[in-house]
Amino acid sequence: MIVLEILIFTIIFWIIKYFWDNRRFYYLASKIPTSAFDFSFSGIYNFLTADTKMMLKLVNESFDNESDIAKTWLGHILFVIANHPDDIKTIFNAKQCYDKPSFVKFSAKIEKGSLFGELEYWRSHRKVMNPFFGYQSLRAVIPIFNDKSKVLIKSLECMVDKEAFNIFHNMTALTLETILKVMEYDVDIQNQEAKSRDVFIKNLENFTTVAFLRMFKPWLHPKIIFENSSLSKIQRHAMSNSAISFTEDIIKNIRSKTNNNEDEKHKSFMQAMVNQKNNLNDDELKHEVHTVVLAAQDTSAISSSMTLLVLAVFKDVQQRVVDELYQVFGKTRDTPYIEFENVNELVYLEMVINEVMRLYPVVPFVVRQVDEEIVLGHKYTIPVKAAVVVPISRVHKNKKFWGDDAEEFNPERFSKENFSKIHPYAFVPFTKGPRMCLGYRYAMMLMKIQLANFLMRYEVDTNLKLEELEFGVQVTMTVCQGYMIKIRDRKY
Ligand code: HEM
Repeated sequence: MIVLEILIFTIIFWIIKYFWDNRRFYYLASKIPTSAFDFSFSGIYNFLTADTKMMLKLVNESFDNESDIAKTWLGHILFVIANHPDDIKTIFNAKQCYDKPSFVKFSAKIEKGSLFGELEYWRSHRKVMNPFFGYQSLRAVIPIFNDKSKVLIKSLECMVDKEAFNIFHNMTALTLETILKVMEYDVDIQNQEAKSRDVFIKNLENFTTVAFLRMFKPWLHPKIIFENSSLSKIQRHAMSNSAISFTEDIIKNIRSKTNNNEDEKHKSFMQAMVNQKNNLNDDELKHEVHTVVLAAQDTSAISSSMTLLVLAVFKDVQQRVVDELYQVFGKTRDTPYIEFENVNELVYLEMVINEVMRLYPVVPFVVRQVDEEIVLGHKYTIPVKAAVVVPISRVHKNKKFWGDDAEEFNPERFSKENFSKIHPYAFVPFTKGPRMCLGYRYAMMLMKIQLANFLMRYEVDTNLKLEELEFGVQVTMTVCQGYMIKIRDRKY
């Protein structure tokens, strides 16, 4: 009996101590308006057991607030959702919010990489990687973007005038092959038999899934998630032999080459990374390679696939894109070699890509951790350890900033004149500030070169209707039905 009393007393003592120690946190949290949606206890259960579609539904419901700032709880984690671009600007630029919450620094495989690593780790590694992602260095990879896009065009010849197919598989193979080639690892994924190509890609997708599940179920070891995933034995074997071990091959490969290129500007990504000055060991290099491959692959493949799907629906817009291509490259069926300078000439194509990323952002939200108190919405002090959420998908469709037709597809919003009237933080597919996407220039150039090659050669069509599309989220937001398009040879 005494033991029980001591136990109860101890528990009560610790609960009181916990709330007393965190009284400022709970006091400040109580001042923030509560979201119309609250996860509560059954909410936590739903959240932890949700499939990708359900996950997106829950996330969207939690964003659905009238007020500019709203809070919701997931267990003891305080989420503060910032809907106003002024607050989004503060979050992306304030050093108090550079950090990612610990539940986001998830996967054992990438938790040390720039994407999810500790703040100090991120700071020093971002500095190392930054120069490669500038325009001057990216010039050097333009031939890779062109060559790999041409492999795609060739590999699709067998699909002309056939049934609809999911272009996402081809785009994933293309972007993966491209980023690996940029890292001086030459592997032929696009021309592999569809089955083995899909296994290779599925491996990476499952690698991402494992990483994602670890975000919400950190107590599970990646191996357990992996073993319980829907992978077949063969796929698991292939995964351990390809997706994970390719990073080791990449590093061995680059370490074995003597680096005679002293010109910093013209160093390849991997040459820059292994540079003695940076002093990165093999383990750190492995994490950065994982990070960049993971960040580069799905995101641009989804955006390119979605752009093709939208153009298949809006034929007039597709024709305008092609007219611009003819203007820049001449009216020809031969896919052009796209120079660095040409990329900037494809103004309308860029407007279309931006409008697609506005309506269907690949990353629908980002989360940052508050390391020092910060004021949002002019009057709410956000406590240390709160997780601030920028609901990109919601801000992109907010009528206050985009007008009553915010839900409609209209690339004209991104003409120089129209876009200059939009709040700069109302459009943030790559986010902004010191921690914004490192590869945004790479991604825009890559997508423009891929799509220009594709559309010069093929006309796209689809039976899908945009309003009937269902989306799911698993780090990135994807179409559940697949990006089903039909292609025909373009008549010119
Ligand atoms: C359409 C394509 C892409 C989209 C929409 C996208 C979007 C994003 C977003 C939203 C973030 C999080 C930024 C934040 O936390 O504030 C991010 C981070 C990052 N992205 Fe991208 N990304 C794309 C393509 C790429 C590519 C092609 C690369 C590399 C070649 C890349 C490399 C990275 C890296 C390294 C980070 C971590 C940056 C940091 O924490 O400092 N991304 N990206």
